[in-house]
Amino acid sequence: MSQQPTADPGTSGFSRRRLLAALAGFSIISTLTMIVAPILGFLIPPKTSGAAAGGKVLVGTVADIPPGQGKVVPVGSSPTIIVNTDQGLNAFSAICPHLGCIVTWDPGSNVILCPCHDGRFNPTTGAVLSGPPPSGLPAEEVTVEDDQIFVVSS
Ligand code: FES
Repeated sequence: MSQQPTADPGTSGFSRRRLLAALAGFSIISTLTMIVAPILGFLIPPKTSGAAAGGKVLVGTVADIPPGQGKVVPVGSSPTIIVNTDQGLNAFSAICPHLGCIVTWDPGSNVILCPCHDGRFNPTTGAVLSGPPPSGLPAEEVTVEDDQIFVVSS
């Protein structure tokens, strides 16, 4: 008569039971987290930047935009183009009024250029120079304090 090896229920059953309980606990906590986190994210809105509520937003320094150059910077959730012309710094919404593309600075022709349909804007006034945009770029208030450039969002 041969003897079959028997498992020791005292030690291996206990560790297997603990492992299964730990896995079940981890699974329950993970599931609850996946359910509760989006609900809390919806109920507690994220803090918005000062730009979204209106205010001065630091967009760079004067050294970042030398004379004859332009740069698109984020102001809150909207892009703004800053242009350093002979008349000083100008800021405009960087959203093209034609179909909403983001304009860029074209240093070769010294204009604000919309790359989508070749719309061109005056860097001093934001007015349409050529192309399909129905209106100019809305101007934004820009100030310089201690070589720091601020855009005032509304
Ligand atoms: S989207 Fe700018 S010219 Fe068409």
